[in-house]
Amino acid sequence: MDRVESGIPGLDEMIEGGFPLPSSILVAGEPGTGKTTMCVQSLFHGAKSGETGMYLTGISEPNWVVQKFLSSFSFFDQSLVEMGRVVFIDMGDAMRRNPDDVLNALKGEVERYSPNRLVLDPITVMRIAFDSQKRYREFLHDFTTFMKAFNCITFLTSEMSYADIPHSLEGYMADSILVFSYPKEENARRKYLEVLKMRGTKHLTGEQAVDINQAGVTIQPGLR
Ligand SMILES: Nc1ncnc2c1ncn2[C@@H]1O[C@H](COP(=O)(O)OP(=O)(O)OP(=O)(O)O)[C@@H](O)[C@H]1O
Ligand SMILES: [Mg+2]
Repeated sequence: MDRVESGIPGLDEMIEGGFPLPSSILVAGEPGTGKTTMCVQSLFHGAKSGETGMYLTGISEPNWVVQKFLSSFSFFDQSLVEMGRVVFIDMGDAMRRNPDDVLNALKGEVERYSPNRLVLDPITVMRIAFDSQKRYREFLHDFTTFMKAFNCITFLTSEMSYADIPHSLEGYMADSILVFSYPKEENARRKYLEVLKMRGTKHLTGEQAVDINQAGVTIQPGLR
C-alpha cells in the first residue's frame, strides 16, 4: 500500500509510516482540540515536498481570519500560499447561493487545483446545506469517491466527540478515524489523539498524548 507521511510528529510511527493513499480521514473532536491545526500542518508538510494542498471551509469566517490564526505556527509558510501550493477557499457563498450545486462547485475547485491533500473544515456545515440525511449521505459518498480518483488524502473535520462517532455517517464512510479529546483529569485537561480505525493499517490503539505548541500538533505515543 502507498503511504504518505502525515507531517505530524509522532503520528506516523503509530500508523505504519503514514496515511494510506488514497484515503479519506475523519478528524473528529470537540472545539479547540486541534483538528484544524493538524490538518493544515499536514497540508504544509506535503506542500514542502512539492504537493498541492487545499483547505476548503464552508463557515462564514473569512479566509484571512483562518490564515491569520494559522500563520502563528512555524509550519505555516506564506510563500507556499503565494505560490499556490497551499490554497485556501471559502465555499460559504457557493453553499448559500445554491446548496444543490455544492458538490459540483467542490468538484470544480478540486479539478482546478488537483490537490494531493485536501481539508474540508468542517464537514458538518455541509450537512446543513442539504435538506435530508439521504442527500447528505449521497453527497458524502459521491465526494469521497470523487476524491479517490485524485489519489488524494481527504481530511473531513467534525466537531463530534467519541460518543457520537459510532452512530455517524461520516465515521462509517471514512477510511480512517482520528479523534481528539480533552478529558478532565484532576484539575487539568490534557489533549489526546486516538486512531479509531485506519483501513489496511495495523495502528496503535488507545489515547495518545497530544502537545500543541508553536510548531503545531505533536503526538507523544506511549507518554502518560
Ligand atoms: N501556540 C500555541 N501553543 C499552544 N497551544 C496552542 C497554540 N495555538 C493554538 N493552541 C491550542 O490549539 C487549539 C486550537 O486548535 P484548532 O483551532 O486547531 O482546534 P479545532 O479542533 O479546529 O477547533 P474548532 O472545532 O473550534 O475549529 C487552541 O484551542 C489552543 O488550545
Ligand atoms: Mg477548527
